[in-house]
Amino acid sequence: MRAPMARCFVTRVLPGPALDGLRDRHEVDLWPDRLPPPYEELAARAAGAEGLLTTLTDRVDAALLEHCPDLRVISNYAVGHDNIDVHAAAARSIVVGNTPDVLTEATADMTFALLLAAARKLPEAVDSVRDGDWLTWEPGRYLGQAVAGATLGIVGLGRIGSAVARRAFGFNMTVLYTGGGPGSGAVRRVPLDRLLEESDFVTVHCPLTAATYRLFDAEALGRMRPSAILINTARGPIIDQEALRDALVAGQIGGAALDVTDPEPPPPDDPLLSTPNLIVVPHIGSATRVAREQMAELAVENLLAGLDGRPLPHQVRVAV
Ligand code: DGY
Repeated sequence: MRAPMARCFVTRVLPGPALDGLRDRHEVDLWPDRLPPPYEELAARAAGAEGLLTTLTDRVDAALLEHCPDLRVISNYAVGHDNIDVHAAAARSIVVGNTPDVLTEATADMTFALLLAAARKLPEAVDSVRDGDWLTWEPGRYLGQAVAGATLGIVGLGRIGSAVARRAFGFNMTVLYTGGGPGSGAVRRVPLDRLLEESDFVTVHCPLTAATYRLFDAEALGRMRPSAILINTARGPIIDQEALRDALVAGQIGGAALDVTDPEPPPPDDPLLSTPNLIVVPHIGSATRVAREQMAELAVENLLAGLDGRPLPHQVRVAV
């Protein structure tokens, strides 16, 4: 049975036609700006809403939820949901949806793009051509690291970690993993310390939780090989950025490539941005047209289902 029209607040314009489907069924208040609504604005608009469609830049905490008496469903336009206090939502019988699967391959592609770019020093090479520094073919410049046949350590072998492993097999890499995930004969599960010590490339794919916050601290970075490269397309706070900067400046590890930082974006004067052997891109792991449009469709399907009182196609389960 169709639910009556409900009030929804959508915090960002989304790619593709999915929002039209929401407007056909419900009353939609759409935040039109490039920047997300400030917290106070989000709180004010959420207070009158029955459905919320948020992105990872919107903090939905217990204090905000306290003032949302009619809210029944929060649909997050992301697979990660660390921006939402899911326990506070569950305590108020508010269901939360997310958008897994449709962004897996895009994010795995980006992980490999960053891995290859860092290994083969692509940013420096591109800059040198732009700066007129390509004088001739030179035997000893821009020497990078071999990817084929190297060892890749995957922290978190979930959907995206597994998709990265599949790419690594194409490069004939040895794949180690730690943390969650089913694994298979082709990948070896090892403790984190061992993964750090044995990997040429380490890539982060675990969710941000209290247990993974700053998992990569000075000690963990100190276990990595001097030539190793760290890639993060998961969440910024999993890495202690000051420790990472220190490790890169001291040449303690070979390089890093970050799609995510803490905060996002880093302030313009953040020393991270001038750190050697570091690539930073603006959280674009899922940014293919097809992935972002499918995320929009799934986010709308989640919201519509929640407003109808049906099970969400992708509901975040809360451990009690
Ligand atoms: C997510 O979905 O959690 C990504 O970080 C953005 O697509």
